[in-house]
Amino acid sequence: MKVTVVGAGAVGASCAEYIAIKNFASEVVLLDIKEGFAEGKAMDLMQTATLNGFDTKITGTTGDYSKTADSQVAVITSGVPRKPGMTREELIGINAGIVKDVASELIKHSPDVTLIVVSNPMDTMTYLAHQVLDLPQNKIIGMGGALDSARFKYRLSEALECPSSDVDGMVIGGHSDTGMLPLTRLATRNSVRVSEFLSEERLQKVSEDTKVGGATLTKLLGTSAWYAPGAAVSGLVQSIICDQKKMFPCSTFLNGEYGLNDLCIGVPVIIGKNGIEKIVELDLDYSEKAKLKESAEAVKKTNGLLE
Ligand code: LAC
Repeated sequence: MKVTVVGAGAVGASCAEYIAIKNFASEVVLLDIKEGFAEGKAMDLMQTATLNGFDTKITGTTGDYSKTADSQVAVITSGVPRKPGMTREELIGINAGIVKDVASELIKHSPDVTLIVVSNPMDTMTYLAHQVLDLPQNKIIGMGGALDSARFKYRLSEALECPSSDVDGMVIGGHSDTGMLPLTRLATRNSVRVSEFLSEERLQKVSEDTKVGGATLTKLLGTSAWYAPGAAVSGLVQSIICDQKKMFPCSTFLNGEYGLNDLCIGVPVIIGKNGIEKIVELDLDYSEKAKLKESAEAVKKTNGLLE
């Protein structure tokens, strides 16, 4: 099974690396517009094959989309990342044009592809892909919630002073500093609600730290993060390629689910060989519903900036 990753920058290369290390895809094609860059990253990664014990073949190309033909999954990471102090929304102008071109090229060579959009502002870029492509709704997935949930679990484990593997939790809503909705009410440590162990105040801090998870890293690194974004994408790709039917919060087009329409926003979905196979409707309480609605309004406002 072939996977294409467009953009050989930090996030794209990290995606390719995690996909290869997990050893479930036969081929990963890295594509970038910078001359020789994807080829170099692919070669460097291939030289880790014997060290890391994987058989996935990684190749690179400078802008030749014919090399991506018949991909089952394609990941779009291209565009500019944010710099310290920038919001994801500020990237819209430049990234919209790039995502539009990349998505159209990909579809020409892989008409049955399932697309995973990572470029920011991600919910709006996912919506844009829906608008410009003739692809069924289930085949366009925005990656944000899987990453935000991993960051939520990290913050919960920090507060609980336990390993992350003890913790379960999910973040829905828009992939933005203000739009994320970490579901603290439903988060658990080994099936016990985390509110049994943490005060309302501490949970509030976990929630706030989660929401600015990307911004915190952008400030520390000088550019946006890549390990966790890459790992989160690789989990979605694996669930598609291996038809695992795992549940992840992903940005998906809503048609009345959660009382929302005509936008892409993060809600739990089942991911399998057909992409988004089911949208899971959670029984949210009054305040969660209000926050999701507010988040949706902000996403729609950003969508309104698309030409
Ligand atoms: C982040 C970027 C990928 O949250 O949106 O790190």
